[in-house]
Amino acid sequence: MKKWLSDQSIIVKLMVTGGATILIIIVLSGMTMAYFFNKSYTAGKIHTIANSIERNVFLARIAEKDFVKNDLVDTNFYRMGTSGHLEDNRIHISKVRTEILDLIELWSGAKERMARELLALSDQYRHLFSEMVKIYREIGFKDWGLLGEWRQAIHNVERAVPQTNHSEFHEAILQLRRLEKDYLLRGDEKYLQEIEIQLTFLRSLISEIDNIDRTATRQEIDRYEETFKQYLLLQKKIGRTEKEGLQKDFAAVIAKMKPAIDYIYSEAKDENQKARQALITASIIIYLLGFILGGACFYYFARSISTRLSGLKDAVLKVGQGHLDTQMAADNKDEIGVVTTAFNKMTTDLKAITASKKELRILSSKILDAQEDERKLVARELHDGIGQALTGIKFCIENGIRKLEDGCPISQVKEVGKAIPLIRDAVEEVRRISMGLRPSTLDDIGIAETIFWYCHQFEEIYKPTRIQTSVEVEEGHITDALKTAIFRIVQESLNNVAKHSRADRVLLNFHDEGDRLELTIEDNGVGFEEGDQSAEDTGDKGFGLASMRERAELSGGTLSIHSRLNGGTKLTATWPMAT
Ligand SMILES: Nc1ncnc2c1ncn2[C@@H]1O[C@H](COP(=O)(O)OP(=O)(O)O)[C@@H](O)[C@H]1O
Ligand SMILES: [Mg+2]
Repeated sequence: MKKWLSDQSIIVKLMVTGGATILIIIVLSGMTMAYFFNKSYTAGKIHTIANSIERNVFLARIAEKDFVKNDLVDTNFYRMGTSGHLEDNRIHISKVRTEILDLIELWSGAKERMARELLALSDQYRHLFSEMVKIYREIGFKDWGLLGEWRQAIHNVERAVPQTNHSEFHEAILQLRRLEKDYLLRGDEKYLQEIEIQLTFLRSLISEIDNIDRTATRQEIDRYEETFKQYLLLQKKIGRTEKEGLQKDFAAVIAKMKPAIDYIYSEAKDENQKARQALITASIIIYLLGFILGGACFYYFARSISTRLSGLKDAVLKVGQGHLDTQMAADNKDEIGVVTTAFNKMTTDLKAITASKKELRILSSKILDAQEDERKLVARELHDGIGQALTGIKFCIENGIRKLEDGCPISQVKEVGKAIPLIRDAVEEVRRISMGLRPSTLDDIGIAETIFWYCHQFEEIYKPTRIQTSVEVEEGHITDALKTAIFRIVQESLNNVAKHSRADRVLLNFHDEGDRLELTIEDNGVGFEEGDQSAEDTGDKGFGLASMRERAELSGGTLSIHSRLNGGTKLTATWPMAT
C-alpha cells in the first residue's frame, strides 16, 4: 500500500488519505453513535413507560374514587355488578401491569427488583379492590343486597301489625330504625346493644298482639337481625374507616405504591437524561477525534510535502553554490519525485558539461602546445635534414661554379656530381617529413596499405615487438576525413604501446562488420588502472587517449579503452556504416 501510494500523484495521495480518514471517521462515529442512540432510545422508552405507569395508576385511582363516590349510591352497580368506573379502573390497572412487565424486561438489578415490587403491589391493589367491590355489592344499597333485605324484613314486620291498634309497636320499630341509622352514621357499639334490646322488646310485643301471624312476623324480625349481623360482619371485614379491615390494607398498598412509582419514574428520568448526556458527549468526542485524526493526517501530509520541497530547495541552492555532486533520493513517483529525478539528471548533466568544458579547455591548450611542438619538430627536421642537405648542395654548386669561372674544364668539376646524392637525400628527407605529417599513401594506396606500412615501420623501430595485423575493409566506403582519423588513432595507440606498455605482441584488427567499421588494438603489456585516465586527470598526463576519443567522436564513432594492471590494454573504436 505504502509502495503503491508513493507511486501516485499528490492529488491521488491527497484523495486516498483524505478518503480513508473520512471513511474511518464515518465507520467509527457510526458504530459509536449507533451504540449510544440505542441506549438513548431504550432510556427514552423506559421514560415513556414510567410516565405511562404513573398516568395509568393516577387514572385508575380516579376511576376508583369515582366508583366509590357515584356508583355505590347508584342501584345500577348493584343490579349489573359492574360500572363504567370499575371498567376504567380495570383497564388502567391492567395497562399498568403490562407496562411494569415491559420495564422488568428492560431493567436489571435494583431497578428490576423495584419494578417487581410495584408489580406485586399493583396485583394486591387489584385483588383488594375487587374484594372490596364484591363486599360493597353484598352490602348493597336501597333495595339491593343486605341493606335491601333487612329493609324488606322490617317493612314486612311493620305491615304485619296494623298501625292504628298498636302504636307502641310502631313506636318501637321507629326507635329501632333510628338506632340503626345512628349506628350506620356513627358506628358506635352502644347502638348495637340498644338495637339488640329493641329487637327483644319487639319480639315480646309480638306475643301480646293478637290477630297477626306471629311466626311469620318473628321470622321477619329474625331475618332483619340475621342480615344486620351479616352486614356487621362484612362491615367489619371491609372496615368502617381507612384504619380498619380491607380499607386499611388497601390504603397501605396505595401508600407503598406511591414511593415505588416515584422511584421508578425518577430512575427512568435520570437514566434518560444520562443517556442523552452520554450521546452528546460521545458525539463531541467523535467529532473531536475526527478533527484530530483529520488534522494529524493533513499535518503529516503537508509536512512530508514541505520537507521534500525544502530539501529540493536546499539542493538547488547548493548546486547554485557550485556543489555539482548534489543528488537527492527520488523514491517517490509523484510530482515532487518527478522534479527530483529531473533535478538529479540536470545536476549529472551539468557536472558532465562542466567536466567536458574543462577537458575542452585543457585539450585546446594541449592542441596549441602540440601545434608548437609540431612546428618545432618541423623546424628541426627542416634545419637538421633538409637544411643540412641544402647547405651541402649549395656548397657543392658554389664550388663547381667557382671552378667553372676559373676556367676549369667541366669534366674536372666533380662538385655538381657530388650534389646529386645530396639532392636525392633531400628529396628522401622531404618525403619522410611529409609522411610523418600526413602519409600521402593514405590518398594514393588507401588506409589498409598505409596501416600495413606503418605497422611494418613500427616493427622495424621497436624490435622485438610484433604486430599481427588483419585489415578487411572496403576502401570506397571510407571517406578521406575518416581515413585520417583512423590513421591517427592507430598512430597514437601504437605510440602508447611503445611508450608505456612494454608489450611484445600487438593484435590489430580493422574490419568491415556490415553495419559498422570496427578497429581494435590489443597489447599484452603492463596495462594501467582504468579511471586514472579520467577527464580530470588529463591535465597532468598526455592527451593521447582524450584526443583519440575526440577524433573518433568527431568522425561519428565511439571509442572505448579497457585495461587492467598487468592484463594488457584493448582499444576499440567503432563507426556506424550506412547500409
Ligand atoms: N597501451 C598502454 N599500455 C600501458 N599504459 C598505457 C597504454 N596506453 C596508455 N597508457 C597509460 O595511459 C596514460 C595516458 O596516455 P596518453 O593519453 O596517450 O598520454 P601520454 O601517452 O602522453 O602519456 C599513459 O601515461 C599511460 O600511463
Ligand atoms: Mg600517448
